[in-house]
Amino acid sequence: MTSTILVTGGTGYIGSHTTVLLLQAGYRVLILDNFCNSDASVLDRIEHICGIRPDVVEGDIRDAALLESLFAHHPITAIMHFAGLKAVGESTQKPLEYYSANVGGSVCLLQAAQNAGVKTFVFSSSATVYGDPVNLPITETHPRSTTNPYGHTKLVIEDILESLYYSEPEWRIARLRYFNPVGAHPSGLIGEAPQGTPNNLMPYVAQVATGLRPQVQVFGNDYNTPDGTGVRDYIHVMDLAQGHLAALRYCQQQAQTLLTVNLGTGKGFSVLEMIKAFEAASGRPIPYGITPRRPGDIAACWADTTLAAQTLGWTAGLDIRQMCEDAWRWEMRRANQEAAG
Ligand code: NAD
Ligand code: UFG
Repeated sequence: MTSTILVTGGTGYIGSHTTVLLLQAGYRVLILDNFCNSDASVLDRIEHICGIRPDVVEGDIRDAALLESLFAHHPITAIMHFAGLKAVGESTQKPLEYYSANVGGSVCLLQAAQNAGVKTFVFSSSATVYGDPVNLPITETHPRSTTNPYGHTKLVIEDILESLYYSEPEWRIARLRYFNPVGAHPSGLIGEAPQGTPNNLMPYVAQVATGLRPQVQVFGNDYNTPDGTGVRDYIHVMDLAQGHLAALRYCQQQAQTLLTVNLGTGKGFSVLEMIKAFEAASGRPIPYGITPRRPGDIAACWADTTLAAQTLGWTAGLDIRQMCEDAWRWEMRRANQEAAG
């Protein structure tokens, strides 16, 4: 029987793009998602792209009985764990929800996986675990720290995975530290669909380009960066999804592993550079104004990508032009669909 990958959070932004690549690579996919930040319509669009529909179960990763039944009834051989809450600001308002969903949910999932003897696990960590970086580019050995509950959940889950690995070395675990995922599938059929006002730069910029919002607020232009605005390592979500496939294959080839690896491009771009790139991709003006710094933001962050290239044979290939063009295609499609009711 074809091996099944359990993809938690598979209808979300990164999970849906990874699901497409898994299906296209011949894996069976079983999605577990509670739809708290996604909706089931993405399944039709995944099917449209791949010609295959992933199996989906609506439910929560904290539901131990449901997990036990999923492992009992499907030939699951590996887990890609995307499900969780991800808004930094919200995590300071609702810390218990974040610890429950992210830490509690991961423990519940790992317990069920252990009970079922499924020990191949790819986890969505984040560059947020590097805090305010002391050296750039950031290598995986950079000290970890965090300033908010969301980031702390990622630190704790990383530590739980390490403890588990040392208790039972037959685990094959990849902890993937994403930098800033942006862009969309080139078909324009799936992409990021934030609810309400976007917290992140690129979805906000896209909504200014469509006219939904009047201007981008640039959070500070007095950082110690070339143009004074924040610098980040933006990575195309399709490259990120490819990185997951590479990590899964790597884990499947090892007898045991605890891999911790950055997924970024190794290049940093400023807020103003990203606005310009989006103007070029969309052919629309993107008005912006400078506002005070956002509390908790760092000046600059980009990845050292050497380890990913060496261990996974993976490097990001898509540039900011492609990130912006694909994000724009997706945003236009969404805007047209909403206008059509
Ligand atoms: P997303 O919100 O689009 O996807 C997460 C999915 O998980 C959603 O479909 C949501 O409905 C589901 N979910 C949430 N809690 C759940 C629960 N308790 N049970 C079942 N399903 C649940 O987020 P994303 O951008 O695709 O992020 C995926 C993962 O990557 C998250 O763990 C996030 O913390 C991490 N990450 C994201 C970024 C980013 O900027 N997008 C950066 C670094 C790390
Ligand atoms: N920014 C603006 N205006 C906005 C939004 C953002 O100027 O409206 C600036 C920020 O100050 C920062 C840059 O754009 O300089 C990027 O900000 P994002 O909010 O898009 O991304 P962050 O780097 O702050 O954080 C993101 C995720 C985190 C994750 C981190 C590293 O939100 O969860 O990337 O992966 F931890």
